[in-house]
Amino acid sequence: MHMFPAFDVRPSSGNLADVSAQTQPEGISPRMSEPTMFEEDFPDTAVVTRAREAGGPEVFETLEVPAPTPGRGQLLVKTAAAGVNFIETYQRSGVYPVEYPFVPGSEGAGEIIAVGEGVESFSTGQRVASTEAIGTYSTHFVVDAAKAVAVPDGVSDEQAAALPLQGVTAHYLINSTYRVSPGETVLTHAGAGGVGQILTQLLKARGARVITTTSTPEKAEVAEAAGADYVLGYEGFAEKVRQITNDEGVSVVYDGVGKDTFTGSLDSLAVRGTMVLFGGASGQVPPYDLQDLNKRGGLYITRPAVHWYLRNAEERTWRFTELFAALTSGDLKLNIGGSYPLAEAGRAHQDLEGRKTTGKLLLKP
Ligand SMILES: NC(=O)c1ccc[n+]([C@@H]2O[C@H](COP(=O)([O-])OP(=O)(O)OC[C@H]3O[C@@H](n4cnc5c(N)ncnc54)[C@H](OP(=O)(O)O)[C@@H]3O)[C@@H](O)[C@H]2O)c1
Repeated sequence: MHMFPAFDVRPSSGNLADVSAQTQPEGISPRMSEPTMFEEDFPDTAVVTRAREAGGPEVFETLEVPAPTPGRGQLLVKTAAAGVNFIETYQRSGVYPVEYPFVPGSEGAGEIIAVGEGVESFSTGQRVASTEAIGTYSTHFVVDAAKAVAVPDGVSDEQAAALPLQGVTAHYLINSTYRVSPGETVLTHAGAGGVGQILTQLLKARGARVITTTSTPEKAEVAEAAGADYVLGYEGFAEKVRQITNDEGVSVVYDGVGKDTFTGSLDSLAVRGTMVLFGGASGQVPPYDLQDLNKRGGLYITRPAVHWYLRNAEERTWRFTELFAALTSGDLKLNIGGSYPLAEAGRAHQDLEGRKTTGKLLLKP
């Protein structure tokens, strides 16, 4: 057994950050202060799956690197499971700029094995989850203690890893971006997807009427099982939405499909309706003439992202408390559509981008 192996890269004096920068791989935060170790488990190395460069799923490589170390205010977590999210496909492919080699993943859950200086809210041995961690496509990841949440008893590691990003997204969309009232009719897309299934369940618990879209009959069944009132194909969906709503249109569309559905989503809206474009699974929406919003009835449009809705501890606590409560009450069931070994992150991306998946995808170290 090795004791405090990360001290191997620590100088007896001088500039810690400089030395760490020479010895730590890119994407791993340098040690800024001596963490409190849970000695038994502290690793020499971590195994990461990272993108070598921008490209397809084949740019992923899995390799052993020096274990990350928690800086001041940070936790080192042994990964039980990491969530796979669409944003990582944008980062891997170069749609969103990142520095390569790049260890993706902001979502994960596991056990704390070391805490950095100044951490008082957590201790080693506790289970935590986060959607704001650093490089969770790894056997170990670092997260700011302020951005981690304790996982309650009764919530499994898998659930804890599956919930944060898609759960918080669904929560902020229906509570903060546009607050849905009981009885309102709402259109969401990709109703069998990860966010889609959670959105539908939370909307139904709110008492809303949910119209959604899917690309296959099998996925339609999944969306229906999540509680959707109407499941449509993509072809001509706006016309059908208008029929369902007696030509009124819906007050809000939550659109994470983007390029292929954008115009149809606008066509589905009532006067003064709100278009929430929260993703681009089919591609990014090209530049748009705002004058069109006037022609269509004074519509509203927004392009939100999770970090704008986790602005402080209160928001984080509010969202996670409600999500964990929905999980334990049974209002929310997480559908894990696939668990992949860490080294097969490329296959997970291929399946996600290839529209082969339903529900949440996880990576297991
Ligand atoms: N802004 C935020 O805060 C935020 C946070 C989380 C996720 N998101 C976004 O939300 C969307 C859904 O994310 P998710 O992780 O839950 O993924 P997901 O819905 O499980 O997977 C994406 C789904 O999009 C649908 N889709 C339609 N056209 C597609 C195309 N050309 N290529 C691939 N998929 C297509 C597919 O369902 P069908 O086959 O049924 O069409 C596919 O299964 C993504 O755009 C993601 O970027 C945004």
